[in-house]
Amino acid sequence: MYLYLSVAFGLLAISAVQSSSSNGGGFNLRPFRINLSSGVSRMLNFVNNTQLPGGPEYLGASAGIPLDTLKSLRAEWLTRFDWDKEQLAINAFNHFTAEVEGLTIHFIHEKSRTPNAIPLILIHGWPGSFLEFLPVIDPLLQNSKTSTDTPITFDIIIPSLPGYAFSSAPPQNWTIDDTARVYNTLMTDVLGYSEYATHGTDWGSFVAYSLYGNFNGSVRASHFCFLPFSPQSPTELAALNVSLSPLEAYEEQEAMTFDSSGIGYTIEQSTEPNTIGLALYDNPVGQLAWIGQKFLNWSDPRAGTPPSVLDHNEILKSVSLYYLTKSLVSSMYIYFQNPEALKTVYSKAQTDAPMLFSGFKYNPGFWPPALVAQVGNLVLYRNHDFGGHFAGIDNPPALIKDLREIGTYWA
Ligand SMILES: *[C@@H]1O[C@H](CO)[C@@H](O)[C@H](O)[C@H]1NC(C)=O
Ligand SMILES: *[C@@H]1O[C@H](CO)[C@@H](O)[C@H](O)[C@H]1NC(C)=O
Ligand SMILES: *[C@@H]1O[C@H](CO)[C@@H](O)[C@H](O)[C@H]1NC(C)=O
Ligand SMILES: *[C@@H]1O[C@H](CO)[C@@H](O)[C@H](O)[C@H]1NC(C)=O
Ligand SMILES: *[C@@H]1O[C@H](CO)[C@@H](O)[C@H](O)[C@H]1NC(C)=O
Ligand SMILES: *[C@@H]1O[C@H](CO)[C@@H](O)[C@H](O)[C@H]1NC(C)=O
Repeated sequence: MYLYLSVAFGLLAISAVQSSSSNGGGFNLRPFRINLSSGVSRMLNFVNNTQLPGGPEYLGASAGIPLDTLKSLRAEWLTRFDWDKEQLAINAFNHFTAEVEGLTIHFIHEKSRTPNAIPLILIHGWPGSFLEFLPVIDPLLQNSKTSTDTPITFDIIIPSLPGYAFSSAPPQNWTIDDTARVYNTLMTDVLGYSEYATHGTDWGSFVAYSLYGNFNGSVRASHFCFLPFSPQSPTELAALNVSLSPLEAYEEQEAMTFDSSGIGYTIEQSTEPNTIGLALYDNPVGQLAWIGQKFLNWSDPRAGTPPSVLDHNEILKSVSLYYLTKSLVSSMYIYFQNPEALKTVYSKAQTDAPMLFSGFKYNPGFWPPALVAQVGNLVLYRNHDFGGHFAGIDNPPALIKDLREIGTYWA
């Protein structure tokens, strides 16, 4: 549904966006269209020719991606998936590239038709991409109201992280703080916004938190679905006198399960990104197993049923983007380059900007309100019993609603 709306909105927004290019001098700001069509038949030939075991399957989902699921995803890739159709919908949005500090940064920029809309940068992580925010763009561009009846509308900016999709690979020794600085330059010097709001999830929350603390003059509100702080064990929470609701207790349990049995990929990607990244570099079914398992495991069991749009086609779209842009290996560098990024000591960012947080039941990370309040100026905390790690596709209406609350606290 959202994608159809976007076609109309994308066209309307073109002239508005182009007027901002006058601010982009020196950054080689230019419109960008996606065209990965030439690689599709080669990809699908590989998919078709990849052998998988016949079975039996007896280990279950706790051993990684179930073989039957991988086979059914592969069959759908070969028979129903249509990259050109997806690409058309992706290109309905306004894409750009700009050169900042020697890096090419790819981003979507959609302007509201309302003047003085709040600029909002949406920052994805791994194995996400700009794709995970497409369903929320058009609703956020529209005039709406916060829960306190404040009018709210946004300009939306969605960059691809360095090493992802069409952005340059990160240079040697590149860190989260470097990406945050480049994104601040993008928002202020390239696009001309003196103040803006941020949203971050997964690695995007690490970048957003760096922006929140280090650019307190320009970042004037921040929404998070994830945090760069290590979730605490039940014992640690008890020591802090934090008591949990049943929903929170479930999320705490999921976070602990993730900590004990779900981090194999993180260890590999942060220690030997080239080993796994090059092994999968030209292997679409391998990428489907490696990336697809994360989409399946970190989402709501009801994923793909309303309000979730995270169906198998969505997973295939994401994997195709990684494969066709040849970016899986460089997308892993962020793990290698930021080994200490997950902070164990909770400390407060130097800012008075409001912080908003949304929890989702099946997100494999959990931070109760008392902990979130330790790291920022927490003004709103919501917890949803539907959705998971990729909120923009696993519960878009909830993410939209929560992001609109930025308007309640925007000074
Ligand atoms: C994409 O590029 C191919 C050539 O590789 C061209 O034939 C095709 O028309 C292009 N598609 C779009 C949508 O621009
Ligand atoms: C897959 O390979 C089979 C056998 O070679 C062929 O009949 C079929 O058309 C191929 N399917 C695709 C989508 O390439
Ligand atoms: C990257 O960091 C390593 C280790 O600190 C250092 O030896 C190297 O010179 C750095 N490289 C660049 C390009 O800054
Ligand atoms: C937790 O509660 C106990 C008993 O009320 C109190 O002694 C302790 O100081 C509290 N701890 C914290 C971290 O608030
Ligand atoms: C997700 O992965 C965990 C291991 O981290 C496993 O215990 C669980 O069964 C998996 N769940 C699903 C639904 O794939
Ligand atoms: C912004 O950061 C600077 C430097 O860290 C700090 O001195 C200042 O107090 C901060 N401003 C706010 C509003 O927190």
